[in-house]
Amino acid sequence: MVGITAEPGRDCSLCPRLAAFRQTWREREPLWFNAPVPSFGPVDARLLIVGLAPGLRGANRTGRPFTGDYAGELLYATLHEYGFSRGKFDARPDDGLELIDARITNAVRCVPPENKPVPAEINTCRGFLSPTITEMPKLRAVVVLGRIAHETTVKALGAKRAAAPFKHGGLAIIGAITLFSSYHCSRYNTNTGVLTTDMFRAVFAAVRKHLDS
Ligand code: URA
Repeated sequence: MVGITAEPGRDCSLCPRLAAFRQTWREREPLWFNAPVPSFGPVDARLLIVGLAPGLRGANRTGRPFTGDYAGELLYATLHEYGFSRGKFDARPDDGLELIDARITNAVRCVPPENKPVPAEINTCRGFLSPTITEMPKLRAVVVLGRIAHETTVKALGAKRAAAPFKHGGLAIIGAITLFSSYHCSRYNTNTGVLTTDMFRAVFAAVRKHLDS
């Protein structure tokens, strides 16, 4: 399914399960964002980072990707270290943080129950991921966080899954885009040592080198 625009409306109903979950949380927490979380960062950035989906009490609450999520602490610190942000990340959408030459989006824009989108939701929301990619005129590098983000992004870029299998630290060239793959920087992955800070930093060091070359 191909979306017409890169951003779903606040009341997007394409995924009935996600719309129902969102409605439950609108009633429970009326002051939370509780809507599809828009991409963050300039559209003319050369780098796009694709996460999985908003965390319930993170991006779904605050309205900015990886903001208020445990995963965001490592992501935003690493972006800062490699020169992709300006200002102080304070886990609030009004902290004044600016991304430089980088943009963050999610494979699925609405918070899924148990943090697990189902395949139909991932496919449907690719209708927003594809135009998010094509509306970026200077895009050269994409970092995908985790296997789901990897696979949907490979499809959004028009390549076959087999052409770019998921591997942490893996790299694939798809047209004009270099795809850098990483394990997701989730609390689970970092607490279990699946992803260390150094492994994550190495991905962004490679991106920085690629963009500076
Ligand atoms: N927050 C997001 O916005 N995306 C993720 O993938 C995880 C947390």
